[in-house]
Amino acid sequence: MSQNVAFSGATDVLGLNDPGGKNIYITGRLPKVWPTRAEDEPMTYVVIDNCIACKYTDCVEVCPVDCFYEGENMLVIHPDECIDCGVCEPECPADAIRPDTEADMEKWVEFNRKYSEAWPVITQRKDALPEAKERDGEKDKLGKYFSEAPGTGD
Ligand code: SF4
Ligand code: F3S
Repeated sequence: MSQNVAFSGATDVLGLNDPGGKNIYITGRLPKVWPTRAEDEPMTYVVIDNCIACKYTDCVEVCPVDCFYEGENMLVIHPDECIDCGVCEPECPADAIRPDTEADMEKWVEFNRKYSEAWPVITQRKDALPEAKERDGEKDKLGKYFSEAPGTGD
């Protein structure tokens, strides 16, 4: 059955580009609204532990909805603000951004939510942490280096 629907974001999924804008809206008669995942729950990308002690910040420059938040030595994504566009994932030199559809991401969704509600927003790239190259790829960074302190944001 057809119905009128509107989509925003998810530009890579739709194969559209909007270099000057932040959202793309499509309205019209479509066969159905397709679900973003099996349970019909919203998706998000999350920052995982390899960001800790690196904080390259390349990711923030490309986010169309400014949903990165800055801690002292890592960033997080607000899961309710992320529109699941996916453009930040390949920008991270530390491969620290993942879709929550990957295995064992639930704890990272809650982690990202918790700290995004406590830390300031960051929208501009800044210098990576001095130890970024040395710490990139190290194991157990959460236990060894994570700081709950907020960053300075912008
Ligand atoms: Fe921002 Fe990345 Fe979410 Fe896109 S996928 S809205 S770039 S955090
Ligand atoms: Fe962290 Fe990668 Fe962004 S290291 S700050 S998630 S570019």
